[in-house]
Amino acid sequence: MKICIYGAGSIGCYIGGRLAAVGADVSFITRPRVYEELRTSGLKLTDYTGKTIKIAAKDLQLSVDPKIVTDADIIFVCVKSAATEQVAKELYNNLGAHRPYIVSFQNGLSNVPILKRILKHHSILEGMVPFNVAVQAVGHFHQGTSGALHVKAYTQQQDLAKLFKQAELEIVFNQDMLAVQWAKILLNLNNSINALSKLPLKQQLSNHQYRQCLAMAQQETLHLLDLAQIKPAKLTAISAHLLPKIISLPNFIFKILSRKMLAIDPLARSSMQDDLMAGRTTEVDWINGEVVQLAQQLGKQAPINKTLIELIKQAEISGSEFSIGAHDLKTKLEHAAKLKV
Ligand SMILES: NC(=O)c1ccc[n+]([C@@H]2O[C@H](COP(=O)([O-])OP(=O)(O)OC[C@H]3O[C@@H](n4cnc5c(N)ncnc54)[C@H](OP(=O)(O)O)[C@@H]3O)[C@@H](O)[C@H]2O)c1
Repeated sequence: MKICIYGAGSIGCYIGGRLAAVGADVSFITRPRVYEELRTSGLKLTDYTGKTIKIAAKDLQLSVDPKIVTDADIIFVCVKSAATEQVAKELYNNLGAHRPYIVSFQNGLSNVPILKRILKHHSILEGMVPFNVAVQAVGHFHQGTSGALHVKAYTQQQDLAKLFKQAELEIVFNQDMLAVQWAKILLNLNNSINALSKLPLKQQLSNHQYRQCLAMAQQETLHLLDLAQIKPAKLTAISAHLLPKIISLPNFIFKILSRKMLAIDPLARSSMQDDLMAGRTTEVDWINGEVVQLAQQLGKQAPINKTLIELIKQAEISGSEFSIGAHDLKTKLEHAAKLKV
């Protein structure tokens, strides 16, 4: 099976690299800058368990030419959501009559609909990456949290299952990916809070007031999901509806319970925080934005998530001076909820 990774960033390099390391035929479509970097550095992949995998540059199939998609049996779309439309157009122009499977390993709900709109006759599958991957140095990608990948069930899934098993990457195939995607959004609601805290994930989640902010955003989302009759999947040891309750518990109880929910190391940060630090536009519209959109569809409001979007948008234009303390953030969110702004 020939795999093509479209977008050699954190997720593309990590998943593609793990598969290439066990001998899979993986090619990477990269930006010219990334091509030059990886051509020199190769890949180093590490994880929260202490695993280290190195792939020499000579063993990586790198290309800046999107035409290589014509060789692929399966393509993993691993670009940020804002780049999906462009990638869909590039795929349309280059694939012609060739029909590989296309898996979107992106956050949010809107990427697959964009791909399906432009690539009408292709098999597009929802994918979900549960864990966090961050760049540590050029060519070094670190998996900071645990979890199983999810992909929409399809007829030839056994081939992929076998390969991921070899690479020791847990993968689950689901019929109901909407439930999985919403469950992931509930967890990703912490991305904006983590970004605004400017702290590593573990440190931010150790703060009770930041956790209360997350619980408020999750509670608002769960209420809307109930109204829409969408039942989020259970991605952690705790069901989605219990998450805000567990998260709001005092520090000492949360510490004990969270060990069972998620392995997380001191290096992990949300990629939204990295985006803010690097002055890039974030994916907030594809995460909290989905909640606001759902509220609109239901004729309701989502003031907590709307406020988090506004704060991130302000942070996007304010350079490196964007952090908000836990008490201030909680006060802002409570105020927004009261006013229903
Ligand atoms: N990182 C995580 O921890 C994590 C976890 C779960 C899910 N996700 C999701 O996974 C997706 C990818 O995230 P990421 O963190 O891996 O992003 P990333 O590190 O920014 O990687 C995306 C890469 O794709 C490149 N790219 C964009 N358009 C391209 C094109 N047309 N041709 C070739 N390359 C292109 C980008 O280059 P430029 O930057 O130059 O555009 C960048 O190198 C997102 O939807 C994210 O939400 C991420």
